[in-house]
Order: sequence, then C-alpha cells, then structure tokens
Amino acid sequence: MRDSREPIERFLLMTTSQSVIPIALPATGEEEWHAVREPILRGWLTQGPKVAAFEQAFATRHQVSHALATTSCTTALHLALVALGIGPGDEVIVPAFTWVATANVVLYCGATPVFADVDPVTFTIDVADALARVTARTRAVIPVHLFGACADVEALRAGLPKDVILIEDAACAAGASYKGHPAGGLGDMAAFSFHPRKSITTGEGGMLTTNRADAAETANRLRNHGASLSEEQRHLGAKPYLLPDFNLLGFNYRMTDVQAAIGLVQLAKLDRFITERAHWAAWYGERLACLPWLRLPAVLEGHAWQAYVTSVDPKSAPLPRDVLMDRLQQQGIATRPGTHAVHKLGYYRTRFGLKPEDFPNAHACDVNTMALPLHNRMSAEDYERVVSSLCAF
Ligand SMILES: Cc1ncc(COP(=O)(O)O)c(C=O)c1O
Repeated sequence: MRDSREPIERFLLMTTSQSVIPIALPATGEEEWHAVREPILRGWLTQGPKVAAFEQAFATRHQVSHALATTSCTTALHLALVALGIGPGDEVIVPAFTWVATANVVLYCGATPVFADVDPVTFTIDVADALARVTARTRAVIPVHLFGACADVEALRAGLPKDVILIEDAACAAGASYKGHPAGGLGDMAAFSFHPRKSITTGEGGMLTTNRADAAETANRLRNHGASLSEEQRHLGAKPYLLPDFNLLGFNYRMTDVQAAIGLVQLAKLDRFITERAHWAAWYGERLACLPWLRLPAVLEGHAWQAYVTSVDPKSAPLPRDVLMDRLQQQGIATRPGTHAVHKLGYYRTRFGLKPEDFPNAHACDVNTMALPLHNRMSAEDYERVVSSLCAF
C-alpha cells in the first residue's frame, strides 16, 4: 500500500525513530517550517529583510557592532581575509587540527597557510608554537574555537606584533564565550557556521562579525559582487531602475531570506540548546570518568559544546580507536573523529611536503579523537545507551 504521509512527515519519522543514534541532528521542526512561509509567500527569497533581521539579532546576541550573513563559514572566512587585504606574499598562521576550510581560504587569497600545532587538552591552537612561527610576512592568525571552546586569544594577542590581524574561526562557536566576552568580537573579524552539524543551522550558511566599521563596509560590498548598494537598498531606494557601481572584485556570498527565516528561529533557541548540551556534557563527564582509556574533553568556561570530543588512549584502550568506532556503529551509536589534521590531507601533504610528525599533537588528535553523539534531539535513553555501550568494552 502506498504511504499517504507527506514526504516531510515520513522524513521526520525516519530521523526520530531510526535505530542509529546520529552524531548530530539539527533541532529543527514546526517553528522553522512555519517561519519559511513568510518569505516564500511574499516572494522575497534572496538577501532581504529576513537576512537583515537575522544579522541584527545575531549581532546583539554576540555583542558585536556588525554581522553579515553569508552562504557558509568558509565564504565568511574568505570575505574576512579579502576585506582585510590579505594576498600573495602574506603568511597566515592556522592550527593544523581543524576543518580543511580554515587553511583553504588562505590559499584562495594567494597567501600561504603556515600551520601551528594544537594543545592536546583544549584542541585549540598552541599559542607558544604559533608565536614561534611568526615571521616578517605574517599578516594574520586564525585561531579556531574548535568544538565550541574558545582559543586563548588573549595570550595570542599579547604575544603577536600589533599589526598582525586576528580572525576567529568561530564555525563551532555560536553562543560561546571567552573570559565573559562572546565569540565573534574577540579579534578583528570572526566567521560562524550554520551547517547542520553546528548547534544552530540554516541548512548551509555563515555569519561574519566584526566591530570594525571599515572592514564590515568592504565585506558587505564584496559579498554582493562588489556592488556599492545591496539589492534591498536598491529596490527600496529612490531609483530602483538604476544599477549601482561595482568598484571591487566581489563574490556572490549572499544568504537567502528563506535561510535567514530559519536562522532567526534557531537563534532564539541557542541559549536553551547550549544549556542542554552543557548538561549532557557534564553528565557524560560523570558517567565516563571511570574509563581510564578515554580522555574526556576539558570543561572550559564559556564552552558552547558544539561537539563532545573524547580521545582514545592508544596504549590502554581495549581496542584501536577505529575498531571501537566500528563496533559502536554496529551497536547503533554513531561516532566520528573530532576533525582532521589538515597537514596530513593529500593536497597539503603534496603541495607543502608535510609529514604527520611535523605537528605531533595534531597528528595524535587526528588518530585518537572520537566525538560522541551530543545534540538537542537526543533522549535520556539515547545518552544512557552511549554510556552503557562504552562501559561494556
Ligand atoms: C573549524 C571549522 N572551520 C570552518 C568550517 C566550514 O564551515 P562551513 O561548512 O559553514 O563552510 C567548519 C565546518 O565544519 C569547521 O568546523
């Protein structure tokens, strides 16, 4: 017999009743579904009033003067580098253990990524190692707030020459804070991600934030093909029939109003999501403390718990990490490596002649980290299942 349910209902049933506990699942539902009606019925689909409202709300929540919505965190990072004038001949220091996009954006600008090792406890950039790699060509550092824990930006700033720019890769850090200050305003510019693996999502999407009016103005134009007026300004202005001037080599990195409508609903839930995640992270901490072979993530002040990333001790673990992950998958529990060591990826290995041991902590994180399921659609029974399966090894 044919299933008469709407595809969306069938999908929701599939995702909520599946036997594998996913590593992440966006907490979207009826409210987001209703929110997209307005732009769809109104017919304003590309960057417009919803994007403006989302930017305003995001800037307020993260206590920054400017927020610009983009198609992804990758494009927000790219915009930041271009807006701040990074180009050929420049070096940009990035951590070796991060998502590949952090380094790729440096290459997009014709600049050179210079890797630094990471702190194996916090998974963020090793400040001493980063500072040791500063040369006369260093124009910027991109500290990554990996898994929702902020990098030690104060120590970085204190050790860097004054003219070196700090760009936060805050892909995982919506709602995170550092010494009481929200991520997004800790450096010159910052980039957030709304990919579905992040705490709040717009499907794909990103946000560029800054307190620098000059950089915001340039990035705003670069995001829209380099146009001196946004589509909204032009359509609502006195002469909508005239095209503006284009005096920058820009891109099309605009978010749609449909995405922003989802983003507004998600942003309103961000604090609840973080509170719930922090609760379950603490619970994991208590329940898994008895496993001597599993190092649990550091509990840092202001952590936003985008992911719960453990490390499997290769010397004392009952099984190698990859075998453990396979066994857990067979038991219906999804796990993933925290992220990857970019210097070990084929493109970087070949182009820059890098070896795993060049960044020993990043290499160790690459092979030992194991993220456990943590998201806002998990039940108490799901968490209990993860813990019992791990304790049974
Ligand atoms: C640390 C980090 N930087 C950048 C990105 C890229 O984000 P997006 O997928 O929104 O481009 C990610 C995505 O996973 C990430 O984890």
